[in-house]
Amino acid sequence: MKILTIETTCDETAAAVVTGDLEVLGSVVATQDQLHEEFQGVVPEIAARAHVERILPVIDQALKKSNVTLDQLDAIAVASTPGLSGSLLVGVTAAKTLCMAASKPLIAINHLHAHVFACQLATNKQIFPCVGFIVSGGHTHLYRYEDALGGEYLGGTIDDAAGEAFDKVASMLGLPYPGGPHVSKVALEGDPKAYKFPRSFIRDERLDFSFSGLKTAVRYAIAGPGNADVHAVKLSQQQVADLAASFQQAVVDCLVAKSLQAVKKSGLSTLCVGGGVAANRVFRAQLTDACQAAGVDLHIAPLEYCTDNAVMGAIAVERFKAGLFEELDLDIAPGLVRM
Ligand code: KG4
Ligand code: ZN
Repeated sequence: MKILTIETTCDETAAAVVTGDLEVLGSVVATQDQLHEEFQGVVPEIAARAHVERILPVIDQALKKSNVTLDQLDAIAVASTPGLSGSLLVGVTAAKTLCMAASKPLIAINHLHAHVFACQLATNKQIFPCVGFIVSGGHTHLYRYEDALGGEYLGGTIDDAAGEAFDKVASMLGLPYPGGPHVSKVALEGDPKAYKFPRSFIRDERLDFSFSGLKTAVRYAIAGPGNADVHAVKLSQQQVADLAASFQQAVVDCLVAKSLQAVKKSGLSTLCVGGGVAANRVFRAQLTDACQAAGVDLHIAPLEYCTDNAVMGAIAVERFKAGLFEELDLDIAPGLVRM
């Protein structure tokens, strides 16, 4: 079985060809980071237009790399939820058009479940049933999965996603976009205890997160309370490192505590983590230690499949096997996260 997978939910245009055995025949990711850098965040209109320019060359390259022609595919799969409307529309329209032209079945991918499925690509062991944790620029959500076909929403952020907080704090510290990797790099030289930042809900039963108060706390630590311009404050290299390390530790503490709480509540023993922030080395190390201590079987997505890519769309193989195909009137669902 060979499936072409397409991913355009946010600011990465990606396509891959995967087999029924989850072998990756070829994968292409065209990142838009440079286009959004001057705005320190994703601009939806720019993202959608860039997808339009890139989608066909990216699909072409993925097929060529895989040595597969359109005719040889068994199905075409596309992430149709959740994401930015304009971005989703480009991928879904491309997939539907190719399905119509080549008479192939269409499969819909839930982008969040695909982030969790990235863990399956790095292990021969069946990851389901599990608690799935998506920690990315747009989402910080916990799900309970019996299988790959759908998840039960357990909880998530009530305001910003963890990755967004990394990006905003990076901007306050004068670091480039996307901020996560830069914050974690400068944090290596910093003291995670230098600043006392809040850890929202950490002792509460609820499986929710909140990072907007943490963002404000970092802002106040830089420029004091009020509306002072954080960018006008001159920070020493050590201050930047200490702020980055203390902020990162506050985020990681919340992510580790809540995901373990979710596993405990679920009665399951496996935790699978995906999404851009899952690439964070301090998070990976501290979660690994905490899971070892708690006897939780932990799977974290391979580094190359943490940020958005089409390979994690291999979750479509499970839908193919279950006979779950879509009509060609498949619509996008930008905000669908609670299923
Ligand atoms: O999964 P992703 O590519 O996009 C969404 O679906 O949102 O995640 C991108 C996010 C960005 O916010 C980026 O700053 C963050 O992941 N990120 C990191 C790291 N690498 C990427 N955050 C913390 N530490 C990292 N090493
Ligand atoms: Zn994502």
